[in-house]
Parts: sequence; C-alpha cells; structure tokens
Amino acid sequence: MSIIKIIFIISLSLSFSLSSSSSSSSPPSSSNFNLTQILTNDPSHSFDIASSEFHSHQIDTEINPNSPVTIFVPDNKSFLYFSSAYHALPSDNIHFILKCHIIDIYFSPSRLLLAAKSHSTVARDVSGNTMFSLNLTVSANGSVLVSNNFYQAMVTRTLYDNYPIALYGVDNMLFPRYLPDPPIAADHSAAAAVCCFPFFFFYLFISFLLCI
Ligand SMILES: *[C@@H]1O[C@H](CO)[C@@H](O)[C@H](O)[C@H]1NC(C)=O
Ligand SMILES: *[C@@H]1O[C@H](CO)[C@@H](O)[C@H](O)[C@H]1NC(C)=O
Ligand SMILES: *[C@@H]1O[C@H](CO)[C@@H](O)[C@H](O)[C@H]1NC(C)=O
Ligand SMILES: *[C@@H]1O[C@H](CO)[C@@H](O)[C@H](O)[C@H]1NC(C)=O
Repeated sequence: MSIIKIIFIISLSLSFSLSSSSSSSSPPSSSNFNLTQILTNDPSHSFDIASSEFHSHQIDTEINPNSPVTIFVPDNKSFLYFSSAYHALPSDNIHFILKCHIIDIYFSPSRLLLAAKSHSTVARDVSGNTMFSLNLTVSANGSVLVSNNFYQAMVTRTLYDNYPIALYGVDNMLFPRYLPDPPIAADHSAAAAVCCFPFFFFYLFISFLLCI
C-alpha cells in the first residue's frame, strides 16, 4: 500500500521535473537561494529561531539549491515548547532532528495538497530505515497535516515556493520518536555515542508533558 503511494509520489516528481525542464532551459531561479535569509526576512519573525537553528547546525549550507527539496519549518512557538529538552541534546542529534523536517521531493502547494488528500507517506530513508518517514494528510477543515509516528504539525503557510525548493511554516516540531542507531553523523562519534541516554530522558519528559 505505502509502496504504491511512494511510487505515485516519485512518478509525480519525475513527470514534474521532466515537464519543467522541457519547458524552460534557463537555470533554476533558486540558484541564489539562502535559507537563513529567507526565514529571517519573513515579516512575521515567527521563523527567526528556525533560521538560526538551521544556520548554526549547517542545514542551510547542506541544501543543494538545484535539487528538489521541501522543508517543513517549525515556528518560534514550536522551538520554545521543546526548548530545554532540545538544547540539552548533543549537536548531532539536533542536526538529525532538524533533518527530519526535510524531504528530497519538491512539493508545490498544489502538489502538497494533492499528496495529502491521498494520504501519502513520504519516505525518509535513513541508513535503509524508513521509520523516519512523514505522513501527509488533510484535516477536517482542509489544512495539510504532516506527521511522524509521534508528532503532528499543521502547515500554516507557504514561506517560499520556487522550483525545486518549497518551504512551509508548520506549528509543531516533528521529533522522531527514536534516534537512529548507530548515529548518522560519524564525524562527532564520541558525542553521538551517548545520544540515546539524554534522548531517553527527553522522551520521558515529553511523555510526562503529554500526560498532564
Ligand atoms: C545567507 O545569508 C546570511 C544572512 O544574511 C549570511 O550570513 C550567509 O553568509 C548567507 N549564505 C550564503 C551561502 O550566501
Ligand atoms: C521569534 O524568536 C526570535 C528569537 O528569540 C525573536 O527575535 C522574534 O521576535 C520571535 N518572533 C516572534 C513573532 O515572537
Ligand atoms: C483548521 O483547524 C485547526 C484546528 O484543528 C485550526 O488550528 C486551523 O486554524 C484551521 N485552519 C483553517 C484554515 O481554518
Ligand atoms: C503513516 O500512516 C500509516 C497509516 O495511517 C501508519 O500505519 C504509519 O505508521 C504512519 N507512518 C508514520 C511515519 O507516521
């Protein structure tokens, strides 16, 4: 079932890439894309924390402006809600958590809605493990919802849409329930090796919050 959905998404992306590359030979206008700047320049200033987090954890420099990408950007409120637990995590874990908001498919607003209406699962293949996938669904009032196994966020607005990059503001963080084991980032393996310990307490803390 979900494999069919993924194939559906992939074929959608392929047909979209083909049609857009045949209709225009000019370079993508996202070539001077600057994530930090776009988020900071948003007049609401609701994405200032996301901007500095994506910047300080090098997510902005890792984004290839010529490759399809959709980012669900948590607003200030989401970061503040998780603040102390989030900042207690090692940098590798934070980097991974931020990456859990990014998918390697370009979803224009209309394609995002279409995918959500057909209850798509978007695979995030982390070391061959698909448990970090995101589900796209639509709420009763028509808003697009994005969720992992544990958290759900509502898409509140389109922050940027310029093929092949789309940025959407969301009202919650999409924390993975578990962090990958072994850790993904190998360059700070000493710090990452102890990741599960604070994360376990973080998880307890969140469970506690949810119970009261
Ligand atoms: C993006 O913009 C920020 C803030 O204006 C700046 O510090 C950074 O160097 C820019 N990044 C790139 C890759 O141009
Ligand atoms: C979001 O957080 C940043 C940093 O704490 C702050 O400068 C900005 O004013 C906040 N925006 C809103 C709308 O609260
Ligand atoms: C849809 O419902 C949610 C609550 O379930 C609410 O927060 C949101 O503002 C609503 N969206 C629209 C477009 O009415
Ligand atoms: C996505 O939704 C399906 C069916 O509703 C569910 O079985 C699956 O666990 C969900 N996956 C994630 C990552 O939330």
